[in-house]
Amino acid sequence: MIVTSLNLHNFRNHTSKNLDFNPGINVITGLNASGKTNIVEAIYYLSLARSFKGVDDEDLIKHLCEYSEIHATVKEGKLSKEIHILITKKGRSVLVNGKKVSRVSDLSKNVNVLLFEPKDVLLFKGPPKERRNFLDINLSKQFPLYLEYISRYEKALKERNEILKSGKIDENHLSAVTEILVKYAGPIINYRAMYVKDINDILIKITRALTGVNDKVEVIYKPFVQMSENYEADAKVAFEKNLESDIKHRNTSVGIHREDIQVNFNDKDIATYGSQGENRLVALALKIAPYFLIKDSDKKPVVVLDDVMSELDKTHQKTLIDFLRKFEQVFITDTKLQIDGATHIELTKN
Ligand SMILES: Nc1ncnc2c1ncn2[C@@H]1O[C@H](COP(=O)(O)OP(=O)(O)O)[C@@H](O)[C@H]1O
Ligand SMILES: [Mg+2]
Repeated sequence: MIVTSLNLHNFRNHTSKNLDFNPGINVITGLNASGKTNIVEAIYYLSLARSFKGVDDEDLIKHLCEYSEIHATVKEGKLSKEIHILITKKGRSVLVNGKKVSRVSDLSKNVNVLLFEPKDVLLFKGPPKERRNFLDINLSKQFPLYLEYISRYEKALKERNEILKSGKIDENHLSAVTEILVKYAGPIINYRAMYVKDINDILIKITRALTGVNDKVEVIYKPFVQMSENYEADAKVAFEKNLESDIKHRNTSVGIHREDIQVNFNDKDIATYGSQGENRLVALALKIAPYFLIKDSDKKPVVVLDDVMSELDKTHQKTLIDFLRKFEQVFITDTKLQIDGATHIELTKN
């Protein structure tokens, strides 16, 4: 899919901005604070109806304005879709071809964006939540059933934590809720294991393409219980073992919501042993790997690289740009980058 046009109204610093994009590489340039990241934030918003910066919708509305609007035209093969998002201080509404869409999963069916931002250099060193988010977001976009399982698991988890916080524990209620966690954690573990296996086959190829060296890269996923015929019994034991401590801490300490992935680079944990440059390139490779797991060529995600080029040396820049030429559509932001054959959009301060 590709985004062919984007119109922003009172979105962050943009009062009114009409932009046309092309397939292939689109370079958005401009001085610091000219609003480059804000543009890609709007593109990302089209896929998940939320900012990648983890802010409230209200922060996206231009200061002193009442509402913010994003209009976009998206093409999927020959099919064209109009997306209209209205963000007010009271909430937001999303229309696809004039029809109201209330579930985020229905929006991400139309637009899929893979993003790499400067802070992703910390993807492996930072908290596990970022790495779980990577799995959860990509799996949810590709498999609606996964999203369903995760939502049900989260709901049961919230209920279990409420029981633990309540002070007087209803044991029947607690064990019923724990059973729900066990039930949904099973297929979630299977999905995660499958996805990590698929990613590994691709990750090694992307990393080699980006570094030009035959490095070994491997994502390692260790579920909180091994999947086997005894899964249900083993999972129950895992929750029971931690029950006393959970009651003490008033929180559920095991489960798929605490899982993590580790990435080994040449057989060593990249978070501990990898250089900053290795962390950046492997994180970039991981963030764009889902592109190759989507087989339908009309549904290939848009790839966004925010402010990444300036961190790379000239050789890696060139290798990365040549690699990106294969993609359906790519957005790159930078203060001054010029790429042969690409579409260039220069932002001026408004
Ligand atoms: N809600 C908002 N209303 C008005 N201006 C905003 C809002 N949010 C951010 N900005 C402004 O947008 C500018 C940053 O834009 P950004 O896209 O990060 O720039 P760039 O990526 O080009 O360096 C800053 O000047 C910031 O103050
Ligand atoms: Mg920026």
